Amino acid sequence: MGVSRLVVRPAGPLRGEITVQGAKNSALKLMAACVLAEGRYVLRNVPRISDVDHMLALLDAMRISGRWREDGALEIVRGSDVVPEAPYELVERMRASSAVLGPLLAAMGQARVAMPGGDDFGSRPIDMHLHGLEALGAEFSLTHGMIEGRATQLRGTEVVLEYPSVGATENLLMAGVLADGRTTVQNAAREPEIADLAAFLNRMGGRILGAGSPTITIDGVAELRAVEHTVVPDRIEVATLLTALGVAGGELTLRAVRPDHLDLLIDKLGRMGLRISPEEGGLWAMASGRPRPVDIATLPYPGLATDYLPMLVALLAYADGTSYATENVFSGRFRYVGELARMGAQVRVDGHHLVIDGVRRLSGAPVRAVDIRAGAALVVAALGADGPTTIADAHHIDRGYEHFVERLRGVGVDIERVDSERVDSERID
Ligand code: UD1
Repeated sequence: MGVSRLVVRPAGPLRGEITVQGAKNSALKLMAACVLAEGRYVLRNVPRISDVDHMLALLDAMRISGRWREDGALEIVRGSDVVPEAPYELVERMRASSAVLGPLLAAMGQARVAMPGGDDFGSRPIDMHLHGLEALGAEFSLTHGMIEGRATQLRGTEVVLEYPSVGATENLLMAGVLADGRTTVQNAAREPEIADLAAFLNRMGGRILGAGSPTITIDGVAELRAVEHTVVPDRIEVATLLTALGVAGGELTLRAVRPDHLDLLIDKLGRMGLRISPEEGGLWAMASGRPRPVDIATLPYPGLATDYLPMLVALLAYADGTSYATENVFSGRFRYVGELARMGAQVRVDGHHLVIDGVRRLSGAPVRAVDIRAGAALVVAALGADGPTTIADAHHIDRGYEHFVERLRGVGVDIERVDSERVDSERID
């Protein structure tokens, strides 16, 4: 099996322009929503990343075909013979596969979806997805690691989520849209990707109000149709590029950004000393010198996203003082800290808190990406190191970032990919 590493060398300030990709976390759910109605869908601004390939493989296993058109759009054709099953090999590769549960139950009345296991975020249960769908009338059993769901006709009801889970809210939207009557989701997740999914479903003929707020009302409809849609910009890619700028210094213009999705991030980076100003459809940003320390805590949107934290920690590792960071969303999500420590970052883990004592320079070292954002954080950290950093398991980064190496090179980062055959002495885990 081929493996790939990234080698990053410090190369001074960044300069240039990048058009931000479409949001991974929205595109994957829109693809799952194509289960809901027969026809031909056209999704624009879908990032070319391996998680999208995984979702295409899952759709293919369900007999829903996808292909990239010459104009870069993703075309998905859903016929009448959907196989309502998400096998373990595919779910295990990508947890977002569980997004097909709601649409399969709503459109086919049944679903067999492998129960997702743990991952590098710690254990990631889907109990809230299942309880919510049960409230709508679905019945579940778990046999041989497969969740088997049935629903003759879903019925609208009020669901109060125990926590504003992104995935549970999305599954409920995709199930409620075809249910009989009104579904109200209380304590719904408010992420911009939820609003994007609701906009897509409404374009298909759904009747959803309040997406983006804590109360979403879904009036079920009898039928939906295939449509065209453009995916919202990826706010996590923006965070990656801005933290990279914070470490390397320089000036960047980011195009196709929604600054209104980034309020708190822009505020925090501003407190660290970056100058950021929203422009028509984009952002201009400049950074120089060491960042100032700040305290940060992740929370569901509009709080600071958990997906930003690894990159923010990489930036704060260079701060001129001590910062405190608290991870409130995924308590087990600190594996990258040990990798940053290999580069000389002074970060202490205390429960779900981090104490980050900034240092002037990190030291380039061989490190390993343990998930998508952890990998991106190591690249950010490497930009200010005193020598080359080699990041193993770069395939994690490819799950979420389109043409990562090429795009970063385009703004002055010295980064290259080294592909090699896996050798026996290499650690395999
Ligand atoms: C999505 C994003 C992920 C992001 C996260 C939070 C995708 C593909 N992934 O993940 O990048 O970090 O939102 O913004 O969109 N929980 C339960 N039971 C459940 C569901 C969730 O206990 O049934 C817990 C989780 O373990 C976690 C918290 O709730 O501690 C938040 O999870 P959730 O918002 O559901 O995140 P995901 O949808 O998995």
